[in-house]
Amino acid sequence: MVYGPTTVPDTQDSQITSQRSSEVVLSIHNLSKQYGQRMAVNNLNLELHKGDIFGFLGPNGAGKTTTIRMVLGLITPTTGEIQILGKELKQHRAQVLPRVGALIETPALYLYMSGRDNLRAIGDSLGGVSKYRIDEILELVGLTSRQKDKVKTYSLGMKQRLGIAISLLQDPDVVILDEPANGLDPAGIVEMRDLMHQLSAEGKTVLISSHLLSEIRLICTRIAIIARGSLIRETTIDELLQGEGQFNVQLENAQSALQIVKEQPWGRNAYVNDKGALVTLTPTGKGRDLNLFLVQAGFAPDALTPTTKDLEKIFLELTNSEAGE
Ligand SMILES: Nc1ncnc2c1ncn2[C@@H]1O[C@H](COP(=O)(O)OP(=O)(O)O)[C@@H](O)[C@H]1O
Ligand SMILES: [Mg+2]
Repeated sequence: MVYGPTTVPDTQDSQITSQRSSEVVLSIHNLSKQYGQRMAVNNLNLELHKGDIFGFLGPNGAGKTTTIRMVLGLITPTTGEIQILGKELKQHRAQVLPRVGALIETPALYLYMSGRDNLRAIGDSLGGVSKYRIDEILELVGLTSRQKDKVKTYSLGMKQRLGIAISLLQDPDVVILDEPANGLDPAGIVEMRDLMHQLSAEGKTVLISSHLLSEIRLICTRIAIIARGSLIRETTIDELLQGEGQFNVQLENAQSALQIVKEQPWGRNAYVNDKGALVTLTPTGKGRDLNLFLVQAGFAPDALTPTTKDLEKIFLELTNSEAGE
């Protein structure tokens, strides 16, 4: 495979996030890991397609690292299957694992060596990586100008990017990063996002875990939320933001309108909020059809706005209410 941004024309860039490739690169079937009585991972199913920047989101202790360690062949699943690039991990370890690059939690770096020397030393331990490849990776992660400085002088963001550089040494097809944005400031997260989009544009598939939705929503194109070892929801950030397509309707006589709306199949969960507004789904998902319905029923809305749920609140709702114990 030819490596480098020149292999993908700029014009395709915007399509990468909007059109999902059909090629499945990593799939996890009914995966579980039990430690004593505890199910660290419980019957998990996931599918990553080529070019995905897939966020693996869940609170601390949800089972993210355990899942990643199973995908990397570091621990054995209690039950379930993992397929990487169409091959069963159990039977094809030696063939598929070199196609996966990983950074698990804090990277183990030599602090008294330069960034470049870190890449060279770790490259040597992997059987040797060319000078050209190291140049290329340093450029990609934005460390070219600081490559000769000792790592102990690097910011946290630079250390994380060096960790990501290590995961890229062998030009993997799949890149797995466990909590790479942990502790990064907003600027660091934007740099990370740009780097991930570059990797995706080169045809790599990226899995990023995080316990904070605020980190991952800026970086990822899709997310799976897990809690207590189980998958709660798999979605795009856009879908998650739209929630269930609810609208907030300001109108006189909201309580009477509520009674009529609640008789409709789409309106069963409608309610009047503490500001006196009617909150409801619509007959078709479109606001204009809700407007029309209300007008025909004799309630002319003063204002109608889609509700935007706060993402962090959605995440907390999902992880608290549906994981159940
Ligand atoms: N080696 C282990 N032995 C026993 N329990 C473990 C081990 N590794 C992880 N666990 C437990 O499994 C659960 C999931 O942990 P982990 O995968 O590290 O979660 P996350 O990465 O989402 O924070 C936690 O309850 C953790 O205590
Ligand atoms: Mg973890």
